[in-house]
Amino acid sequence: MLFRFTIGVLCTPIAFPVSASFVRARPLVIMVSPNDKSPWRVVVTRRLPPAAMEMLQNAEPSLELDIWDSDDQMPRDEMIKRVSQGTDALLCVLTDKVDSELLDAAGSRLSIVSTISVGFNHIDVKECQSRSIFVCNTPSVLTETTADTAVGLVLAACRRFKEASASVYDGTWGTWTLMGYCGMDVHSSTVGIVGLGRIGAAVARRLKAFNCKLLYNDRFEMPHNADPVGAKFTSLDELLKESDIVISVCPLMPETTGLFDADKFSKMKKTAVFVNPARGELVNQGDLIDALNNGEIFSAGLDVTIPEPIDPEHPLAKCPNCFILPHIGSASKATRTAMATLGVRNVLAAYKGEDLTCQVKM
Ligand code: DGY
Repeated sequence: MLFRFTIGVLCTPIAFPVSASFVRARPLVIMVSPNDKSPWRVVVTRRLPPAAMEMLQNAEPSLELDIWDSDDQMPRDEMIKRVSQGTDALLCVLTDKVDSELLDAAGSRLSIVSTISVGFNHIDVKECQSRSIFVCNTPSVLTETTADTAVGLVLAACRRFKEASASVYDGTWGTWTLMGYCGMDVHSSTVGIVGLGRIGAAVARRLKAFNCKLLYNDRFEMPHNADPVGAKFTSLDELLKESDIVISVCPLMPETTGLFDADKFSKMKKTAVFVNPARGELVNQGDLIDALNNGEIFSAGLDVTIPEPIDPEHPLAKCPNCFILPHIGSASKATRTAMATLGVRNVLAAYKGEDLTCQVKM
């Protein structure tokens, strides 16, 4: 199949016919169907896996694609520039802020913002709704992979993987000692899950197999998720008091921003382990650092921080009892591909006027 490509770099754009297989090698690609007079123009803010790219390329009627073909973040001014060139759909990721400024730049042509993430706190959903712009995300496909990572954080933080592993590489691994690197048991512990949505429930299922007693707190009781694993609904205070492990898996919203602060850490056991695979902003990070350094809690396992990436010299990164991953909760090849293809499917559904099954509504 032949497309006409316009490749924009820092000089005058050039246009020439080329086969679709060239797409991935180009830093900036604009692809135009020669046959369709008014194709939808889709701005894509990140390089996509081949399966998702193929779906976009093979869309019928064909689309005009403006792709930031890089794993690095599309700079804000570039994003503003590109959406202002007339955009029907924006396919973005969680590091792209979609606010009034960007929506103003995109103008009235924009129909859908499709984010390749389950989280949508980077998008001003209310503002999109007021402009009749659909917002779609990628729920469900990342649930199990993210729950795997959450359990990894639980194990790492409870069993001191950070300090133990560091000793292997920094030469301080001495003779086997009876009490060296002893941590907290995961099995048979009481686990408090804050947010028993899809991911929370998947974490609960896994920890049930560790013979854990499960407590949860959410805005409402969630019997469909709680009953199969025997999780008990409690107040947040009771959960914090009773749990050996506290896992924060709630969505980031104004009500949950900074939820885990000095007051909450002071209500946890001194031996408690705090795990956050969701969003850094759920935590008052300064308070967490104090709680870790002052022995108010035992340890933490985080997949998310403020900012991301966090400086290795940051006081949080320096805490020996804080195990940090670089926001890789959903990072398996299969899951990231499924997320990207779902993000594309959301765009294509809007393009074809089909039902939007992953629409975010507030
Ligand atoms: C999301 O999708 O919101 C996660 O943070 C990344 O997978």
